[in-house]
Amino acid sequence: MLNFDDDVDTAATPSPTATSARPSVSPPAVARVAEYRAQMQEQPQSVTASEGASRVGNPEFDDRWRRVRVDDKRVINGGADVNQLVPFKYSWAWDKYLAGCANHWMPQEINMQRDIELWRRADGLSEEERLIVKRNLGFFVTADSLAANNIVLGTYRHITAPECRQYLLRQAFEEAIHTHAYQYIVQSLGLDEGEIFNAYHEVKCIRDKDEFLIPFIDVLTDPSFQTGTFENDQKLLKSLIVFACIMEGLFFYVGFVQILALGRQNKMTGAAEQYQYILRDESMHCNFGIDLINTIKLENPHLWTESFKQELRALFKRGVELEYAYAEDTMPRGVLGLNAPMFKEYLRFIANRRCQQIGLDAVFERADNPFPWMSEVMDLKKEKNFFETRVTEYQTGGALNWE
Ligand SMILES: [Fe+2]
Ligand SMILES: [Fe+2]
Repeated sequence: MLNFDDDVDTAATPSPTATSARPSVSPPAVARVAEYRAQMQEQPQSVTASEGASRVGNPEFDDRWRRVRVDDKRVINGGADVNQLVPFKYSWAWDKYLAGCANHWMPQEINMQRDIELWRRADGLSEEERLIVKRNLGFFVTADSLAANNIVLGTYRHITAPECRQYLLRQAFEEAIHTHAYQYIVQSLGLDEGEIFNAYHEVKCIRDKDEFLIPFIDVLTDPSFQTGTFENDQKLLKSLIVFACIMEGLFFYVGFVQILALGRQNKMTGAAEQYQYILRDESMHCNFGIDLINTIKLENPHLWTESFKQELRALFKRGVELEYAYAEDTMPRGVLGLNAPMFKEYLRFIANRRCQQIGLDAVFERADNPFPWMSEVMDLKKEKNFFETRVTEYQTGGALNWE
């Protein structure tokens, strides 16, 4: 079998049948050999100290200095330099990074004055509506911090495709903006910060959702966890599915529907607008996660075993139970034309859709979407909304004044 040293030796040493010594092998030929060796996934044999010294830093001899090729890239366990963004292989990730930047927004750009007045008026909102707002914020103020930590301390270091890392950096900043937005609403309304920020300890339906998620985050943030084995690659894939499809793709949706339903009734319109932008970001996070998951599946089909699929389906069912418990707790009675049983259907519909998006069979029998207006809500035009509602200038690169 051809390998690196065989070929160089053969080329540099006259063959017994040759009539004259051949010149040293040309650099392009060495490059071809190196390429062939890489294709065969062979390691170079050891070289002598003097040979090694002359080869250090020479891309013809040292893989560390070879230019990155598209074929070297992998979403996990890749061998290519993660510092080199191009050549692009995963253009879907780069496109989402660009779209995320184009959708940039900041919480303080949204006018909260009407919300403040409504919240302060004794008859502004019913007790049921106030409970929805407080529970919502109680879940989300910590959920997005969990999401950010999961990306920065966990997922990021296990993903070896730089295009995907680039999107994850953007996503991490968006999670910070979301936490900022929830804090901004809490502050604007003058809510009890201790009550809201401790809800994930003190409110059972919120604590249960977080306790479901945390083991999957802990796997990835454990400093000793490394991919590269069947078991650990499956653990990574499972955590990515829980995070994208169950946390961002399911656990956020009761809360989103509730606040956006308030906005549709012309109540808490500032908070509803903040949630609109968050929903748009989260939809992209979820879709990025699904693309990431499907690409890992494609590159590592051995991970997608029958028992793994059954385990995932059980997790989806558990996720729906937990989110439904949250719906019941936050809506003990009907409010805003919504009631908990409507969410049972909705959550089953979403869970089936997430399963279908990653190639799993539906977990529930036929379920329809009782809130078709949710897709319209996402289709917002930022420019129009911002010109109508913008209240605060924040300084951008183009507005910096050095004087
Ligand atoms: Fe978020
Ligand atoms: Fe997110």
